[in-house]
Amino acid sequence: MKPKIAVVGSFNTDLTVFTPRMPAPGETILGGPYYTGPGGKGANQAVAAARLGAQVSMVVKLGQDYYGDQALENLVQEGIDTRGVIRTADTHTGVAFIVVDQQGENMIVVASGANAQLTPADIDGVRDVITGADIVLLQLEIPMETVAYTAALAHAAGVTVLLNPAPAQPLSADLLAHVDYLTPNESEAQLISGLPVADVVGAEAAARWLTAQGVRTPVITLGAKGALASGAGGFMHVPGRKVEVVDTTGAGDAFNGALAVALGEGKDLAAAVAFANTAAALQVTQRGTAPAMPRREAVESFLTQKDG
Ligand code: RIB
Ligand code: NA
Repeated sequence: MKPKIAVVGSFNTDLTVFTPRMPAPGETILGGPYYTGPGGKGANQAVAAARLGAQVSMVVKLGQDYYGDQALENLVQEGIDTRGVIRTADTHTGVAFIVVDQQGENMIVVASGANAQLTPADIDGVRDVITGADIVLLQLEIPMETVAYTAALAHAAGVTVLLNPAPAQPLSADLLAHVDYLTPNESEAQLISGLPVADVVGAEAAARWLTAQGVRTPVITLGAKGALASGAGGFMHVPGRKVEVVDTTGAGDAFNGALAVALGEGKDLAAAVAFANTAAALQVTQRGTAPAMPRREAVESFLTQKDG
């Protein structure tokens, strides 16, 4: 059976420019190429999960504009259920300005637009999408009160809650207590826990702190070093895969979408994290965010290969 995943989160149209190096403040540099495509942490994770074989519903707010029309069309094309798509005439569809350098590192500024207007009342209007799911997948590009409301609703309905706390923001104790899987990267783990997280040992301390706050399973992502998960059997460090990096934008989203699919299929934590690491590794070998999400066959075949 395909796991049912409800993603409650953002859509942004990504405006990406490649550059030989990042500009300094006040500096103009000549870069390129440039392209636009579908993005936003919520929609990226939804696309990742759909391409990896889940039955995905997306709850998102879009503007009544060209980018909003395109976003809706793209979700439909990806086979995502759009009952939870809400449109507003009050503001624009979310936009992200992304600069990617030659090492594949990125800097992003998001103009949230409609994403900032997704309210708890909107969530009430699509309750069935959330309570009917196996897993609810959340990020922090919508208002914090909407994230907290959704997590509490899902938790009370017995739906597994996976929160990817990106972009980094402090989290309330109340929200943490409703989260089953929390997937910060190193800097997010540091901000949330207040502990230094520079290596696996630091990640273990942060994971211990998160567990004490009521998070069932912290999974701290470590970039190329993979991820540190803290399950019933103690800590496990699942190493990352070696790949040729082209563009790391959206790698975290590939990881989270894939993790939700694997957990929804009943894989154990170690196997689920290995699956997610592999999806993220393949994602960074391609330009772009949602369009770069790998398909199931590619992940399965790379999983069986050894790193060179
Ligand atoms: O995680 C990558 C995403 O962050 C981009 O698609 C951009 O829209 C921002 O939300
Ligand atoms: Na990418």
